[in-house]
Amino acid sequence: MARKLLVTSALPYANAPIHIGHLVEYFQTDIWVRFQKAMGNQCYYFCADDTHGTPIMIRAKSEGITPEELINRMQGEHCRDFADFGIEFDNFYTTHSDENRQFSEMIYSRAKEKGSIVKKQIQQSYDEQEKMWLPDRYIKGTCPKCKSPDQYGDSCDACGAHYQTTELIDPVSTVSGNPPVLKESVHSFFRLGDYEAALKKLFETGYVQKSVQNKLDEWFTAGLRDWDITRDSPYFGFKIPGEDDKYFYVWLDAPIGYMASTKNYCDKNGMNFDDVWNNEEYEICHFIGKDIMYFHALFWPALLMSADLRMPTKLFVHGFLTVNGQKMSKSKGTFIMARTYSKHLDPQYLRYYYASKLSGDVADIELNTEDFVNRVNSDLVGKLANLASRSGPMLTKKLGAMLGILDAEGKALLKELTEAKQEIVEAYETLNYAVAIRKIAALADLCNKYVEENQPWSTIKTDAEGTRRVLTAVLNAVKVLTIYLKPVLPQFAEKIEAFLGVAPLAFADVDTVLQNHKINEFVRLIERIGKEKVEAMVEESKQQTPQQTAETAEPQTTLAEPLESECDFEDFMKVDLRIAKIATASAVEGADKLLQLELDLGGVTKNVFAGIAKAYRPEDLVGRLVMCVANLKPRKMRFGVSEGMVCAAGPGGEEIFLLSPDSGAQPGQRVH
Ligand code: 2FM
Ligand code: ZN
Repeated sequence: MARKLLVTSALPYANAPIHIGHLVEYFQTDIWVRFQKAMGNQCYYFCADDTHGTPIMIRAKSEGITPEELINRMQGEHCRDFADFGIEFDNFYTTHSDENRQFSEMIYSRAKEKGSIVKKQIQQSYDEQEKMWLPDRYIKGTCPKCKSPDQYGDSCDACGAHYQTTELIDPVSTVSGNPPVLKESVHSFFRLGDYEAALKKLFETGYVQKSVQNKLDEWFTAGLRDWDITRDSPYFGFKIPGEDDKYFYVWLDAPIGYMASTKNYCDKNGMNFDDVWNNEEYEICHFIGKDIMYFHALFWPALLMSADLRMPTKLFVHGFLTVNGQKMSKSKGTFIMARTYSKHLDPQYLRYYYASKLSGDVADIELNTEDFVNRVNSDLVGKLANLASRSGPMLTKKLGAMLGILDAEGKALLKELTEAKQEIVEAYETLNYAVAIRKIAALADLCNKYVEENQPWSTIKTDAEGTRRVLTAVLNAVKVLTIYLKPVLPQFAEKIEAFLGVAPLAFADVDTVLQNHKINEFVRLIERIGKEKVEAMVEESKQQTPQQTAETAEPQTTLAEPLESECDFEDFMKVDLRIAKIATASAVEGADKLLQLELDLGGVTKNVFAGIAKAYRPEDLVGRLVMCVANLKPRKMRFGVSEGMVCAAGPGGEEIFLLSPDSGAQPGQRVH
């Protein structure tokens, strides 16, 4: 039976353009939605602009326009970018809407009735000249720890310290440049802790991925704190009913925007909102980045609980984008706007490349510009598009554009392709697009091999019907591969559908065969990437002004933090990694996991106890080159002093893999 799904991506802030980091999530979601639809499931994809908050208010002011004018303009830009990149929402709405106001007020009043809202007097920084309250990110000063100047009010970029704004030395408001003052105000707080037990129950149902669960456990251990949901005037947002000049914090009404977008869609399409949102037949699936997990794993379900609304089914969390091994960087030209990208390059390349990297876990995904060019040219253009372009024109030009029938060899080829369906379906379903893409590329290899072996370009001169049989197999193979690829490359698929003269393809069509079928004129599918185009895009991105790229993060008043902590370059350089030769290795009596190693570091010898006894026999290790941390402070262990550490990968026990250099490395050489 067809499933019913309601899918969302995080709502983009309405004060900045979409960039290639955002696209990781929109591609991930869009591919999943297209896959679900191609499987015959009923699936709605809803999103909206996230329009409220201080940054939007300030940006509008700096441009001399109203926030409404700003958010309308941005909505136009966002929609244009999404369309260019093939991201197809069923509804893209706005949080600055009547529906959102009504839902926000309803949820707030229900939470209040439950006793889940409490008032507290708090002290906050205030800019007297601008007459506005200052979120931490709008205050800068000298770090109280390392004394670096020009650091934000909540944390120091130089030493990583977290502190209170009041601890900053010589703080100033970034809006007026004046020192802020502390002022008292009464705010409403949502008692998140009231929902701890219910949240834990929700997680037992598999609401989040396993890798995310650990982070939640940490948060539970740290204790769930009351959440400040109020902002004082001036603020661009919804006024809190019954309060004097108080507004809902943007993060309260933002996720409620998922509901508002759903309601707006239902109203426009003659559907009943409750039949969709409050209907357990629908799976509600949210896609988000790891930076906003706290909001979606804790606040959002707790808010819904407080209002007696249904729970979402799944929260899919993904990692960030890194470019050439680093965070996107304006100075390196890798902070690339979607608009800039599409001026230089075909969006399909990026959909394909990200898909080939996405595996459904929270790890960051890496865009390496050289690998990007190579992979697109070799796999997408060289293997997949090439298969169609080397067979299609021959059939249309020389064989009357008619497919024939399959012979035994052709059937065998197709069988290999159709049998992969289940594996590919599972890969898409579990967001493991990398596996799907790898499989599709491997199948394309098989097909290309079939073409090489059958040489249609040469048989066409002497055996028209034999050639037709071969090309019939190839184009049926193209059809199957197109179905597999369609969630990732809808435009590419449309071109093939037009060429093959078939209705829009879905997964059910994998098992049908086109025989004695007329096809159409072949059109070029996709061009190779020229490296110079990537360079031009990077160059243009370097030149962009902050206004063109404005990063937007609404200050977050939560404990949300990245999953992996970063290590400064300086910290990393402190580690003295060296090549070492294992001179001797022996078992340690009384410690069945340890081996005692004598490491030769080019003249210097170190004694190291390593927990690798379950994975290696001592006699197999002697003479082997390994990597070793040479400047680890000697540690006294029960069996002696360990003076270093050997580098290995793997979870432990029998699954430990020592890292070794390529041949040619010499003991004592430093690892960079
Ligand atoms: O982090 C962000 O970009 C937010 N605008 C996401 C909001 S998602 C949802 F809660 F609305
Ligand atoms: Zn510091």
